[in-house]
Amino acid sequence: MTDGSVVFDRAAGYYDQTRDLPADTAAAQTALLLQQLARRIAPVLEIGVGTGRIAIPLADAGLAVFGVDLSAPMLARLAAKRPGFAAARASATRLPLRDNSVGAVIACHVLHLIPDWRQVIDEVLRVLQPGGLLLVTRGRRDGSAGELQRRLRAAAGAEHARAAGLDNLGDLDELMAGLGAPVTMLPPVPNSASRTAAEFLDLIGDGIFSWTWPLPEERRRQAVAEVREWFTETRGDPAQVRLRASPIQWRRYQLP
Ligand SMILES: C[S@@+](CC[C@H](N)C(=O)[O-])C[C@H]1O[C@@H](n2cnc3c(N)ncnc32)[C@H](O)[C@@H]1O
Repeated sequence: MTDGSVVFDRAAGYYDQTRDLPADTAAAQTALLLQQLARRIAPVLEIGVGTGRIAIPLADAGLAVFGVDLSAPMLARLAAKRPGFAAARASATRLPLRDNSVGAVIACHVLHLIPDWRQVIDEVLRVLQPGGLLLVTRGRRDGSAGELQRRLRAAAGAEHARAAGLDNLGDLDELMAGLGAPVTMLPPVPNSASRTAAEFLDLIGDGIFSWTWPLPEERRRQAVAEVREWFTETRGDPAQVRLRASPIQWRRYQLP
């Protein structure tokens, strides 16, 4: 029962080590979200809550927030970090919630994983109260890590592979505008995260990121070897070159 979504069972053991943000970036992101959400009386739902990377700091700040996720191992990690945190194993395409019961919905790095993302939006519209908020972000592929990723995809023959779900947030902007909820770009959150190119290449070789999961291991490792060679020739020792992360861009849609 995964409705074709990319479920993160296999990532639960390493997700937090590989995705955690530096403290200053995480704090700035939490502050931005709190600014948007704090005055809401009804609870806030995070779809694809995972290990609680986004939701736990919001709950710690006093917000009534709960989550759904399709991955039992990711939810088990969340429960280990915050026993009693309100979360349910469910798909965002079929939310176990009453109509008009939620003040805001957060979707962080999840809509690109769900083939029927339009059904998710239908569900979000059903459970949100009038005037409710939808806050969305997706990891970006620009910056220096983005260039490396593009080369890795090309080397692995996956340059044209599309995300399982929503590939381009512009499509969501269009859909929401048609519903009277045009997008507002929130101020980008500066991201102080960085890794060396060697660390990034190792993560790809180890199949840490979901876009690499459909690739056979041999092809993935071969692509990493090719790109490591290109990098060394053109940029220098991958262990010495740091890749900076892009700012985090949140989008806000407010229902009429
Ligand atoms: C990249 S993780 C993001 C987790 C969290 N939002 C964060 O930013 O750290 C995506 C999560 O969405 C979950 N997921 C994928 N498809 C889903 C669906 N249809 N309904 C609910 N959760 C889903 C995955 O299992 C995974 O835990």
